[in-house]
Amino acid sequence: MGLVTAACFARKGHEVIGIDTDNHRLEQIQRGETPFFEPDLVSYLEETLRDGRLRVTPDPSANSQSDLAYITVGTPSNREGSIDLAHVKNAARAIAQSLRHKDLSQLVVVKSTVIPGTARNLVRPMLESESGKIVGEQIHLCSNPEFLREGNAIRDTEFPDRIILGSDDAQAIAKLETFYNEFYGRRFHSLIRTTHENAELIKYANNAFLATKISFINCIANIAELIPHTDISVVAKAIGMDERIGRSFLNAGLGWGGSCLPKDVEALIALSKTMGYSPDLIEATLRTNQNQWRKAIKLAKQALGSLSGKRVAVLGLAFKPNTDDMREAVSIPIVKGLLTEGASVVAYDPAAMKSAELIFKNLISYAKNLSECVEGAECAIIVTEWDEFKGTPLKMLIERMKQPTIIDCRRLYDLDEVSQVPIRFLAIGVGPNSRKACESSPPQ
Ligand code: UGA
Repeated sequence: MGLVTAACFARKGHEVIGIDTDNHRLEQIQRGETPFFEPDLVSYLEETLRDGRLRVTPDPSANSQSDLAYITVGTPSNREGSIDLAHVKNAARAIAQSLRHKDLSQLVVVKSTVIPGTARNLVRPMLESESGKIVGEQIHLCSNPEFLREGNAIRDTEFPDRIILGSDDAQAIAKLETFYNEFYGRRFHSLIRTTHENAELIKYANNAFLATKISFINCIANIAELIPHTDISVVAKAIGMDERIGRSFLNAGLGWGGSCLPKDVEALIALSKTMGYSPDLIEATLRTNQNQWRKAIKLAKQALGSLSGKRVAVLGLAFKPNTDDMREAVSIPIVKGLLTEGASVVAYDPAAMKSAELIFKNLISYAKNLSECVEGAECAIIVTEWDEFKGTPLKMLIERMKQPTIIDCRRLYDLDEVSQVPIRFLAIGVGPNSRKACESSPPQ
């Protein structure tokens, strides 16, 4: 979030200083390389580094020159699921220390995802104690949660669907609103001015709702699988047409992963419990998700019987397409589950191979491309819905696989299409006898 925000601001003409404690990461950025895969980010970085609008440094005192300071550090989970605010605390301390000898006022913006109360009870006192200045006078503090998605981060930054500004300092809100009106070149109508705590809770509610929507459709998909002549993709399309529901985030699959939804859902549950409330719905959302990956193994066993000694191709490892991020990716338990069943696993992902090698080491084989991955396989499990997989002709899979069997866990293929070709096809959310596709057998 920090790097994308910095690059987008710099590209619009602002002078941006990126501060980080990780020297290796800073060197990478300096060379115009991104520490992770994000579409278009490299070109943004190259352009803004070249013209000097973006520079990076490990020296936090560089902040004293700026009008605005954004806190965009990570907020990982503690072991029991609660939020770890150490990086936020350190960033607030570093900002405050850089302001000790500064006369002009500065606007400090918390963009990191933090539990309600963090700006007021942690950031604000830290800013005041370490700078010797008063928040609301020389320092202005605003909570401004971020809703960008990995893989779509630049577009989400440049075209946000709303802006949330939280503070009890009217000047802080006015300053940030002015900055965004200039940045976006228009007056933002979908803008909420509110308290720090509302702004902080909005972010958690947003991610918890998205997670609940996915767990809901996965739950219905699991029910559909027990009912003849059903197909979750038709059900999702139809209920999505109800304007009150909406179609997005109703793609049944293997559950939600990544660096945000799992961490934020757990942090919200942990926070609620510290206040004596058990958020049953959100806990059920999490529980539903924790088991969903097992569908991939179940369907593979349904197709092949025992997996022992079978060559299984895993298509997609990243937690979602257009990223190389494997944090909380469902591919991790799936690959481990396949290995436990005795399968020989070969995997391919268009972007996440390096991340995968760090996790699976030499326990699996790594293919250079899709066709190498499925070569000689008895079953191919679609784990991540990369466009590259969507466009793959079934004929190619049939020709290369030993036993043409597809386990479509992201519903890339149309049931009618697969019913036309000699392939064994199983998918998430398809009831018995739904289409010929589910019954068709591979060639002998
Ligand atoms: C999520 C939110 O969507 C962003 O709004 C938020 O800013 C971000 O977290 C964050 O807190 O920083 P992200 O983690 O990039 O963004 O990923 P999503 O696009 O939300 O996908 C999360 C997971 O849900 C993925 O594993 C994806 O495969 C899964 N998913 C998504 C489904 O299984 N079905 C769907 O219909 C949609």
